[in-house]
Amino acid sequence: MSKQIEIKPAKGKLGILTPGMGAVATTFIAGVVAARKGIALPIGSLTQMGTIRLGKRTEDRNPLIKDFAPLAGLDDIVFGGWDVYSDNVYEAALEAKVLERPLVEALKEDLQKISPMKAVFDKKYVRNLDGTHIKTGATKMDLAEQLMADIRAFKANNGCDRVVMVWCASTEAYTEPSDVHTTLEAFEEGLRNNDERIAPSMIYVYAALKSGVPFANGAPNLSCDIPAMLELAHKTKTPIAGKDFKTGQTLMKTIVAPGLHARALGVKGWFSTNILGNRDGAVLDAPENFKTKEVSKGSVLDGIFNAEQQPDLYGEIYHKIRINYYPPHGDNKESWDNIDIFGWLGYGMQIKINFLCRDSILAAPIVLDLALFMDLAQRAGMVGIQEWLSFYFKAPQTAPGLPPQHDIFKQLSKLENTLRYLMGEELITHLGLNYYEDLVKEYEEMIPAHH
Ligand SMILES: NC(=O)c1ccc[n+]([C@@H]2O[C@H](COP(=O)([O-])OP(=O)(O)OC[C@H]3O[C@@H](n4cnc5c(N)ncnc54)[C@H](O)[C@@H]3O)[C@@H](O)[C@H]2O)c1
Repeated sequence: MSKQIEIKPAKGKLGILTPGMGAVATTFIAGVVAARKGIALPIGSLTQMGTIRLGKRTEDRNPLIKDFAPLAGLDDIVFGGWDVYSDNVYEAALEAKVLERPLVEALKEDLQKISPMKAVFDKKYVRNLDGTHIKTGATKMDLAEQLMADIRAFKANNGCDRVVMVWCASTEAYTEPSDVHTTLEAFEEGLRNNDERIAPSMIYVYAALKSGVPFANGAPNLSCDIPAMLELAHKTKTPIAGKDFKTGQTLMKTIVAPGLHARALGVKGWFSTNILGNRDGAVLDAPENFKTKEVSKGSVLDGIFNAEQQPDLYGEIYHKIRINYYPPHGDNKESWDNIDIFGWLGYGMQIKINFLCRDSILAAPIVLDLALFMDLAQRAGMVGIQEWLSFYFKAPQTAPGLPPQHDIFKQLSKLENTLRYLMGEELITHLGLNYYEDLVKEYEEMIPAHH
């Protein structure tokens, strides 16, 4: 057994701050409050419902993850955040229409106490929104300082021991990293000069990391995925992770594709289309915002199929993704996948997947798990990019030059082994030859010695 890493205990309150208090954030908050009251179960959350195998299969040690790793408990969480609309969480949850009214009403007392702080917002990055609950400041540095003051005040007013931030705000317009994003010095200069290439999400990241607050990015915009923020994360010894919660269609893709790849089946084409009618869908209706999503969703299959390594199977794959805004469906997204595959001797087959999913129901447990694991990472002294959390992301952030792992099963092994490593448990390789040693011996002894 390896030595256990020293992990500070999860004592006191953990503040979870979400820039963006829309469908995902309110579903997350309402869910945790409901679970606390025993009204519902936190299904889909690995930290709350998942188990982890320890030691040999025959030892039968499979504790719940929350009983194994020293995570903050649900009762110790305090919620807060920012939004461009001033609705409190009760009002925003009703507006989002993800959860049924009776459930939201049952939680009203708790939810209406949580109101968003004024947002850092720039319409250039999200043109389909027009909220007015917005901070003003002469420079982007001023805005960053206001966010830092918000974090300090939140922590003090709620008696929090620690705080983490999970981006749950709208997807910003597509941006490529450029010189202002390259070093911390250039970035800070840009904040003071109001460089327009600094997106609001990056101002939140800057404020979080400067305050020693871990930051996880649930949307596909760059935010912490730029060298300047990596530098800051290391400087302040703070964990970061991203990007884009892996839910819905991409979740399905990273479940199905590794299976096809595992059996060396070929893929000719993968057509994915979505219809959704929530505010996220409205934002993604703008081409510059959709572009950000398209890039984040697009890399998943390349990473799993690796066409260069197996050109006969995956060299010709045609991957197309569409998102269509269709208000009648609300948050209940519908996705269709048509997958053209081929097998032995090149004979073709088709798979059709029609997933009638609930986007925010799939995303909410991810917010909880990320918050709890990012807090654990910080207490365990893990700094910078937390690749072991790529399980939760469509476009996992990795060390520069390191290809991300998209296969959900490999991501899960990585996550589990990281927990075992932190807790001083043996890593599991699934080799398993030792189970057969006794059998081999037994049968060898049965064979009569003859010459
Ligand atoms: N639901 C999912 O399955 C899923 C999956 C992956 C990623 N995401 C991403 O998560 C994010 C949230 O999704 P949602 O369905 O809750 O969307 P939503 O539109 O319901 O909520 C986003 C909220 O962010 C607010 N906002 C926008 N810019 C802001 C800013 N600069 N500061 C503070 N608040 C701001 C908006 O006013 C809105 O209330 C989106 O970026 C979405 O793409 C969602």
